[in-house]
Amino acid sequence: MTDPWSEIAEGWAELWGGFAEPAQRAVAQATGIGPGTAVLDVGCGSGEFLAYAHRLGARAAGADPAPGMVALARKTAPHAEVRTGDAEHLPWPDDSFDVVTAFNAIQFAEDPEAAITELRRVGRQVAIAGWAERARNDFTVIEDALEGEPRPDGGHRDSLEDLMRAAGLEVTGHGIVEVVWHARDDDTLVRGVLLGGDADADADATTVLEAARPYKTDSGGYRLVNAFRYAIGR
Ligand SMILES: C[S@@+](CC[C@H](N)C(=O)[O-])C[C@H]1O[C@@H](n2cnc3c(N)ncnc32)[C@H](O)[C@@H]1O
Repeated sequence: MTDPWSEIAEGWAELWGGFAEPAQRAVAQATGIGPGTAVLDVGCGSGEFLAYAHRLGARAAGADPAPGMVALARKTAPHAEVRTGDAEHLPWPDDSFDVVTAFNAIQFAEDPEAAITELRRVGRQVAIAGWAERARNDFTVIEDALEGEPRPDGGHRDSLEDLMRAAGLEVTGHGIVEVVWHARDDDTLVRGVLLGGDADADADATTVLEAARPYKTDSGGYRLVNAFRYAIGR
């Protein structure tokens, strides 16, 4: 296991696995996922959305290029068919699904536009979701502290609809959802923020703890309020 997502798969599941849940609920409702719906989740990570779709009665399938994530998703959602594959090359025939979703994943595709075209090839309805623009996210304060200066907003975060249109889809819905990240203590906060990082861990831990002070709760944990945007298309 040498790919970066496989290396952090266990940590991802523990620290971030449930993070996108409010966006997942909003997308499931907006796309009508329910009993009998055939759903594919692309970049399924540790499989939380697959388990949720199953609870809604859907027939869930997942794809992720990282074998470590695929293994975890199969454990989290044993009823789902999870295959190894990236968003640009999905190992299913045309029109296999009613709904194809991607949460916090499409930005990792080398060519996100081509990836959306591929999502549409295998399904009739496509929903993509990801972090909203940086100004809406408490997490930005910590990222900026680690960088040493504010970063400009990235393009993909506020243009999911444009991306969909560029991929030839008609946008049929969009929305914004609050997603809160909780860390129960200092250690969890630092591990969660620095997950996958390779910089100077001690110095970075101090920076993270200082930057996160405004978000400390009475119980000694942290609560960071962020936002996800989603777009739906056909
Ligand atoms: C930030 S995690 C999100 C996981 C999950 N969707 C969630 O919301 O919890 C990103 C996931 O995208 C996967 N990924 C990376 N490159 C990808 C690609 N080109 N196509 C599809 N998924 C990719 C990673 O392996 C990882 O599981």
